[in-house]
Amino acid sequence: MRAAGAAAAISLENERLDAELRARLEELRASRARIVEAGDAERRRIERDLHDGAQQRLVSLLLNVKLARREAGRERAEKASGALWDEVEGQLRQALSELRTLASGILLPVLADRGLGAAVEEITSRSPVPVEIEQMPAERLPERVEVAAYFVISEALANVVKHAEASKASVRVAGGDRALIEVSDDGAGGVTLEDGSGLRGLADRVGALEGRLELDSPAGRGTTIRAEIPCG
Ligand SMILES: Nc1ncnc2c1ncn2[C@@H]1O[C@H](COP(=O)(O)OP(=O)(O)O)[C@@H](O)[C@H]1O
Ligand SMILES: [Mg+2]
Repeated sequence: MRAAGAAAAISLENERLDAELRARLEELRASRARIVEAGDAERRRIERDLHDGAQQRLVSLLLNVKLARREAGRERAEKASGALWDEVEGQLRQALSELRTLASGILLPVLADRGLGAAVEEITSRSPVPVEIEQMPAERLPERVEVAAYFVISEALANVVKHAEASKASVRVAGGDRALIEVSDDGAGGVTLEDGSGLRGLADRVGALEGRLELDSPAGRGTTIRAEIPCG
């Protein structure tokens, strides 16, 4: 009887530990998701600040320079002052265009407005390594999935350019209950998920959405990075 009692006590204790562990795991999942979301929200805030602040100020400054220039031209059309104004205007234009690029890199407005296909085309059109877009879902995926997919694709393609020594790469995205995101290259291979912070960041981002990230990268035979993210 004593032995049976002891066994029952152990099994109760096990159940308690099991429940505790499950609760902790749930907590950990939620906090991971919160961390990623907080990062995205911060990106949006910075983009808005840049757009409403510095960018607006530069636009009105550019207008004022143009006006002032016209006035000055009437009074005396001196060559030297014309060249100076040219330079001021050129610098302002450049600052404005840099600011726009920076802001759009932060919030990915193309992604929000026109979806994953357009945003991926935007990346591939600037890529020095030719990239074929083999497949894109016809429908929009949930926003968090599109954002994660975009980060996977842009990091994977940046890696192809930086590290792979590949002659070409391809991108494939399929929708459905579980979105599938795949980027392949024909380069050096031999990569593992533990190799760097870029890949680890992707694994975290995908993991926070209860998804999975896999690498298939035999040495000398190219790299395929594959993410699977539930859409439900
Ligand atoms: N497509 C690839 N082909 C070959 N090597 C790669 C590829 N992607 C990543 N690597 C290797 O894995 C390492 C880690 O990648 P990553 O985590 O993105 O870090 P980072 O790009 O900052 O170096 C890279 O430094 C590179 O050596
Ligand atoms: Mg990288």
